[in-house]
Amino acid sequence: MPETISETSFRSLTAAAAAAQAARLLREAGIEPAAREGRLLVAAALGVDAGRLLSRPETPLGAAEEAVLDSLVARRIAREPVSRILGSRGFYGRDFEISPATLDPRPDSETLIEAGLELIGHDEKHRSGPWRVLDIGTGSGCLLVTLLAELPNSTGLGTDIDPRALETAERNARRHGVARRARWKLARSLDGIGGPVDLLVANPPYVPTGEIAGLEPEVRDYDPRAALDGGADGLDVYREIARDLIRVVPNGRALFEVGAGQAGALCQILAATRVGDHPPEVRTFRDLNGIDRCVAWKALH
Ligand SMILES: C[S@@+](CC[C@H](N)C(=O)[O-])C[C@H]1O[C@@H](n2cnc3c(N)ncnc32)[C@H](O)[C@@H]1O
Repeated sequence: MPETISETSFRSLTAAAAAAQAARLLREAGIEPAAREGRLLVAAALGVDAGRLLSRPETPLGAAEEAVLDSLVARRIAREPVSRILGSRGFYGRDFEISPATLDPRPDSETLIEAGLELIGHDEKHRSGPWRVLDIGTGSGCLLVTLLAELPNSTGLGTDIDPRALETAERNARRHGVARRARWKLARSLDGIGGPVDLLVANPPYVPTGEIAGLEPEVRDYDPRAALDGGADGLDVYREIARDLIRVVPNGRALFEVGAGQAGALCQILAATRVGDHPPEVRTFRDLNGIDRCVAWKALH
């Protein structure tokens, strides 16, 4: 049986010893990587960054810090992700505030950024174009804010069905210096969205409803349901967006994140978005694990 927090104490420990103790408790609860997460929680309890902790391992914990650390470790043992405990997550080299209303951004979603930048072109001339970007289901704003930061003359609109997510996204835009080029709108799929845009990105909810109960507790119990639930087959929001895609993105490109194994089904949905008899151009991009993670679309005229 794992030892409970109330039986354990971080009393009179140095930062290094507290990190080792936290790691032991996490490991006993089946949580990995325990050593790294233990260090992050100790750093958070001390209010310093983890790098500084490593350089001052002998720093003693005060009584208030011991109590904070107790509660942070208890939250992690209850399977709350470290990113949620800390309130932020790194994405494409920048830190993003996250909140209970936003998805915890995933490294896999960086595939959309890589694909978008590749399609736009990596050279200075292309990067500095006045691209109009639309991010459907913006959550923390990680996709839109990253694209605006990487494309210095671009402007963008981020949408979501949850107004609290839009508030978090706006704060992230301010944090990364792109707020003057970003707008936010409460909207469902492409309802009420004008165009034309040059680049649409969307990481919609895509988990089939029946699979949500079987997800890891870190996801099932802490990511918002609206960020996960994609309907019976997981593809509901893609279908909604596909209906209006040609109107909003007549000459640009759309990039969609998909779950493992969903790329083929999305390509089929998108194949029906024709201008006259012309099927669209559709291609896929893989994530670092070799999984088709992103589907890119362009109407052909
Ligand atoms: C999977 S999360 C993605 C969040 C963020 N873009 C990211 O990549 O981390 C999906 C987001 O879409 C929002 N959402 C769900 N259905 C939507 C819809 N039909 N239209 C717009 N947003 C929607 C959710 O509230 C959630 O914030």
